Amino acid sequence: ADHLRKYETLFTLTPQRMRMIVEAFKEYLELGLEKPKQTVPMIPTFVFGWPSGEEKGDYLAVDLGGTNLRVCLVTLQGDGKFEITQSKYRLTEEQKQEDGQKLFDFCAESLKSFIDNSLMESGQMKDGQKLPLGFTFSYPCSQQRIDHGILIRWTKGFGAANTEGEDVAAMFHSTLEKYQLPVELTALINDTTGTLIASHYVNPQTKIACIFGTGCNAAYMEHVKDIPKMKELNIDENADMAINCEWGAFDSDEHEHLPRTKYDIIVDETSNKPGEQAFEKLISGRYLGEILRLVICELIDEGVLFLGQNTYKLENPYAFDTAFLSLMESDPTDELLMIIGIFSHFFAVETTLAERQFFRALAKLIGRRAARLSACGIAAIVSKMGYLDEGCSVGADGSLYNKYPGFADRIHEGLVDIFGERGRNITTYHAEDGSGVGSAIIAAMTKKRKDAGI
Ligand code: BG6
Ligand code: GLC
Repeated sequence: ADHLRKYETLFTLTPQRMRMIVEAFKEYLELGLEKPKQTVPMIPTFVFGWPSGEEKGDYLAVDLGGTNLRVCLVTLQGDGKFEITQSKYRLTEEQKQEDGQKLFDFCAESLKSFIDNSLMESGQMKDGQKLPLGFTFSYPCSQQRIDHGILIRWTKGFGAANTEGEDVAAMFHSTLEKYQLPVELTALINDTTGTLIASHYVNPQTKIACIFGTGCNAAYMEHVKDIPKMKELNIDENADMAINCEWGAFDSDEHEHLPRTKYDIIVDETSNKPGEQAFEKLISGRYLGEILRLVICELIDEGVLFLGQNTYKLENPYAFDTAFLSLMESDPTDELLMIIGIFSHFFAVETTLAERQFFRALAKLIGRRAARLSACGIAAIVSKMGYLDEGCSVGADGSLYNKYPGFADRIHEGLVDIFGERGRNITTYHAEDGSGVGSAIIAAMTKKRKDAGI
């Protein structure tokens, strides 16, 4: 119990602390809009305004996320409804680190086999037909047009060489040509931007979209007149444009605002990008399991846990998956049988009931902190945009949001802690397939602008 108290102190965020984080966060958002190359990049996406809901037609999408590659055909029906056919491929650790062009080759090969083996076979695509393609590339890219994007930096543990600083749309485009695919690359989008547009398509109350998955990020719709760094582009001041915040970078390098524990510092310093993505490293699914594992390892070193047992399996970095935290929190049995299973099956150690209760409590602290920090990010956008009184919906997606028990409720509690009762005006909901449907809608919106000569 003494041990638990120590971790409670370390991992608990008071409402007052949360409000301080929100204030600092807002300043970073403003700075990112004001000048290029800021900590929180606030990237203009060249997605202008909301969809009409009447977008129609067949579109292909390639989605390179943090864990999977997905290729899909999306049919928009023009009435807020859609159909999807898709294939999913798991990315290997090697693919994340090998040459960037090879990674894009893999994307094109997967798309080719999807077209040849699935769409042509079923007659969903015909010989000679060419389809618009949206590329959902969920990493920070600075854009000057919608079908262009310079990779600022890899995040989420990726490190593919010869890609940072390059135009990834051009790289992907040349691969598509090499494989002679019957597609036209029309848009490069971020998963948050896709989710923003797709969730507004089905729920027009939506003003913000977030991803809580392997990474963590948000997008929202901004007034062009409030993006000072875009002044020289002479875009219509009355227009709106989606902003990909890349908020995972909040508090990077300086580390002045977030309550990092020594476990968070180890996660950061042993990552392939020390100093970067400071906010994301406290929240996203890539890191939560590792934070818990580091606490356990410390207690092993102190001789508190697993005395006399061989714990080498627990000592492997990233051996403790974030999915284990979800399972531990949702174990319905008094004996915590699921937790017995995780530790014996994956790590070959035996646990006592008291230890299992302790692990579950730790998971809860880490998961709750992640959700409450997420609430701080949402609150910063809400407060900056003045959405609190009228209220708004936040479309959310990603494995953490969809699978971690109570994640959404904890965000909502956090919003009430920050804003009081008015916090209830802000609700998050599960957004359906932002990267596929979103990129299809964006491709349709882009085509419409092009046809209109804008
Ligand atoms: C999916 C969304 O559900 O979640 C994608 O459709 C998003 O747009 C992905 O990139 C992120 O989650 P994870 O857990 O795969 O990183
Ligand atoms: C990382 C990426 C960002 C993406 C997020 C969620 O933060 O940098 O672009 O939106 O993960 O996938």
